[in-house]
Amino acid sequence: MAISRRKTLSLIGGGTILAASGAATGFALSRRPGTALRPWEMAGSYSDPRKRALSYAILAPNPHNRQPWLVDLPGGDTVIVYRDHAKNLPHTDPFERQLTIGMGCFLEQLEIAASRDGYRVETTLFPEGEAGPVAVLRFQKGGVPDGLFEQIPSRRSTKEAYEDRPVGADALRALAPFARIIHDLPLVKTLRRLTKEALAVEMLTPRTMGESIDLMRFGKAEIERNPDGIAISGAFLEGLMLAGMLNRESMADPDNQVAQSGMEMLLDKLEATPAYAVISTSGNGREDQIAAGRRWLRLNLTATAHGLSLHPVSQALQEYPEMAAHYQRAHKLLAKPGETVQMLGRLGYGPKAGRTPRWPLEARMRNG
Ligand SMILES: Cc1cc2nc3c(=O)[nH]c(=O)nc-3n(C[C@H](O)[C@H](O)[C@H](O)COP(=O)(O)O)c2cc1C
Repeated sequence: MAISRRKTLSLIGGGTILAASGAATGFALSRRPGTALRPWEMAGSYSDPRKRALSYAILAPNPHNRQPWLVDLPGGDTVIVYRDHAKNLPHTDPFERQLTIGMGCFLEQLEIAASRDGYRVETTLFPEGEAGPVAVLRFQKGGVPDGLFEQIPSRRSTKEAYEDRPVGADALRALAPFARIIHDLPLVKTLRRLTKEALAVEMLTPRTMGESIDLMRFGKAEIERNPDGIAISGAFLEGLMLAGMLNRESMADPDNQVAQSGMEMLLDKLEATPAYAVISTSGNGREDQIAAGRRWLRLNLTATAHGLSLHPVSQALQEYPEMAAHYQRAHKLLAKPGETVQMLGRLGYGPKAGRTPRWPLEARMRNG
């Protein structure tokens, strides 16, 4: 069905009005994927301290919400953490760099949660090399509670337009230990353009767009069945799905008006960015990537504590041939020679974002 861009945008704008009416509000509420969001409510409700910490760790940010972690709980004080290679993203993350960063976020969030219960976690990374577990963790008494714990339930990756106002000086100071914060306008403008161009490359390259489309969950039923990937939900979008205007086929067709409008809306959001956060490392081994993930998680929680939103925009950092020119440009702009930019994110004051789905802890335990 061909509809003009203006028509689609007015439809999308109309969704807000529609949602204000009683019937539509009821419909919107009935579309909430309650089971997929339950792990956020379950966090902390386990008696085994390892499970209690893990129930927070599974709420960590991770690429395409793949939740690639798998855990074993041998004995009384040990957690073995694996990365589930079935969750790989071969087109957009061919070297599994971003997935490894996600594992770093998971480990950091786990340690923060354990500390709240007075546990110190002794972590051995890659004890059998890259082919084996990512980490073996031993829970020991003597942990000092980490204040960032309080931010875990509110942390988000906020993928919306941000307000046109600068990041406060206090926040800049608090974030400085974790990332380079860029807020000078010429470089911000350059990065807006770069991130938008890189997103367009990803969306217009059939195999990389295809990887995202495969992971899209269209509407409540699909999200509840597979509480990972890219959740597309809400009364208005589900209305478009019911009308047959939003589905895998329409998203895969670069000439489709709904897909084009969707991409333009994403690009407009990326434009609305007052600052960026950048994490680079001098090496690019697995341990460097884990360390980058740990820093990103602390950055995200610290930003939350300051009322700030953060949104990774990773496209220009991805290692596939169609992206090579943008990758080089990102590194020329943001890194010293030899460094790898591990994370690039938008930073600013955004709207309150909703929780994203998670598999329950039990589904990510090997012996659960
Ligand atoms: C290494 C890494 C790369 C990511 N890259 C992107 C990205 O390019 N675009 C995006 O919208 N989100 C990106 N994200 C955010 C994830 O989509 C997000 O963490 C996941 O959907 C869970 O949502 P939450 O962080 O709000 O809990 C990335 C996250 C990580 C850890």
